[in-house]
Amino acid sequence: MNGADLAYLANVLRRRTGIVLAEKKTSMIETRLAPVIRRFGFRDAGSLLKELHYGHEALVQAVIEAMTTNDSAFFRDRRTFEEFRDIVLPNLMEERAETKQLRIWCAACAAGQEPYSIAMLLDDVGLIEQGWQITLIATDINTEMVARAQEGVYSQIEVQRGLPIRRLASHFTKEDERWRISDKLRRMVNFRTFNLLDSFGWLPDCDVVFCRNVLMYFEPKTRFSVLDRISEILAPDGALLVGPAESLVGYELGYVPAEHAPGLFYRTRPVPFRRRIAG
Ligand SMILES: C[S@@+](CC[C@H](N)C(=O)[O-])C[C@H]1O[C@@H](n2cnc3c(N)ncnc32)[C@H](O)[C@@H]1O
Repeated sequence: MNGADLAYLANVLRRRTGIVLAEKKTSMIETRLAPVIRRFGFRDAGSLLKELHYGHEALVQAVIEAMTTNDSAFFRDRRTFEEFRDIVLPNLMEERAETKQLRIWCAACAAGQEPYSIAMLLDDVGLIEQGWQITLIATDINTEMVARAQEGVYSQIEVQRGLPIRRLASHFTKEDERWRISDKLRRMVNFRTFNLLDSFGWLPDCDVVFCRNVLMYFEPKTRFSVLDRISEILAPDGALLVGPAESLVGYELGYVPAEHAPGLFYRTRPVPFRRRIAG
């Protein structure tokens, strides 16, 4: 793998996913690309990266997926979920008491731990039993992750990360050494592969957007573009939750931070002109 190949890889990643390859550590890249090298029968990472120049879509997609960081956990950053449960959800339940409709988008869901954590909190309140119509959309660029999330099966180590034992007992069943999430929770989430660089046109207006631990991989221009487009689909009183390491510094325009609730922002900007026309 030479410098030019690495630069080309970084360029493809940035262009196609927004991800900036911060650490160009050869060993890290080789480890991530190893399954792709095996799958496509390359000799080594260097020969794979040379082939990347020809832009075969299956190869490009596999490389992109291999280079994404998919680390996640149930109730990751517990405080965020407490803010959702104790501040965001009660407010929205009051505001939407008449329509009984709630639309939530989890924008980078990895293997599904985040949307299923949200689903568990919604289930605690018994919203569905109370006749609420819940739309919970969960997306990720990585098709393999989305397939895993859809399946809802987790290893012992994965369920040990952040999932209280009582939730494991009530929402999962054991299958050999793995844990399968209940059909009820699985049915609550609509999973779909989606690149945050693409048009948000298919998304409904949302009351809450979780966009956590993904913006930090993007360069400012891409981060702002994603935040901008989220603000366009977020209800005027809607909430945005980002990761604790992701401040909106430099992009205060579209959102106001909630007091004493790190990572929680509200949308205040008037609905943009073009959406008003679109109705
Ligand atoms: C570190 S995980 C965060 C998962 C979860 N939100 C959490 O906080 O635990 C980042 C996820 O962002 C996804 N991702 C990276 N670039 C993306 C893009 N351009 N569009 C959609 N998802 C992207 C990756 O595939 C990965 O699953």
